[in-house]
Amino acid sequence: MRLSYLLLASYSKLQRKENNMSNVQVEKLTKNYGSGAAAVTALNHVNMTIHAGEFVAIMGPSGCGKSTLLHLLGGLDKPSEGYVMIGGHNLTDLNDDKLTELRRRKIGFVFQFYNLIPVLNATENAALPITLDGRKPAEAQEKAVEWLTRFGLADRLLNRPDQLSGGQQQRVAIARALVADPELILADEPTGNLDTRSSDEIASLLRDVSKKYNRTVVMVTHDPRIAAYADRIIFLKDGKVVDETLLERRNGKNADLVADKIKKIGD
Ligand SMILES: Nc1ncnc2c1ncn2[C@@H]1O[C@H](COP(=O)(O)OP(=O)(O)OP(=O)(O)O)[C@@H](O)[C@H]1O
Ligand SMILES: [Mg+2]
Repeated sequence: MRLSYLLLASYSKLQRKENNMSNVQVEKLTKNYGSGAAAVTALNHVNMTIHAGEFVAIMGPSGCGKSTLLHLLGGLDKPSEGYVMIGGHNLTDLNDDKLTELRRRKIGFVFQFYNLIPVLNATENAALPITLDGRKPAEAQEKAVEWLTRFGLADRLLNRPDQLSGGQQQRVAIARALVADPELILADEPTGNLDTRSSDEIASLLRDVSKKYNRTVVMVTHDPRIAAYADRIIFLKDGKVVDETLLERRNGKNADLVADKIKKIGD
């Protein structure tokens, strides 16, 4: 009796944890731009589920809708049809204030060109989301230093972006994305501006963000080597999901497999 009660209690605790963590659900997601002869369907009835803590890469030819998908997942733009649910919240049901709040607290964004503020140092840049959220400066700074230190930047805390390498700037940007403790990280071509070595470091860091720090990570990339760090790759073409691949870990051939797939899809 007691054992079954304990089992039930731990099961429901597990369930609660699972439900609380970000789980992305996309249903019939469609985005049309323009009208008449200029009309473009950037996304066409896309369905997908991304599990809490999963690291997913999105790949596909230029113009297939990858950035559009990321913008809709992050509530930066509204769908023409269908919906996105993040951790049980349907983004289309939220008014602008609630959407802004959800974006600020539950979602972290990482961009190709880092988007750091040139006149702020690494700590001030990383602290920005929670400074803007009205938290005390000392608390914001403490959190920023914590993430920057985890990401190997303890000796660069006071440097401005122009005093940092591209890889270091991207690590500051990832610290900034995590500082408000979001459940979901969205990264659009985070290694697009980096050399091979820094690209590997950033991809490996994003994998840590997912596995060690338990966040859901969705990353757009053109690079099969970088996509190979993910748990799963979703391939888009002409605004539709055309394929997906679960990657086995410890398989050195993942990058070749992904390169092969993307070649076939591009044809
Ligand atoms: N604001 C916009 N207005 C009109 N058309 C747009 C707009 N944004 C994107 N598009 C179109 O929607 C389609 C998908 O664009 P999107 O930027 O999502 O592609 P992508 O897969 O990210 O491409 P890339 O790999 O080049 O970054 C393209 O045809 C693009 O021209
Ligand atoms: Mg894009």
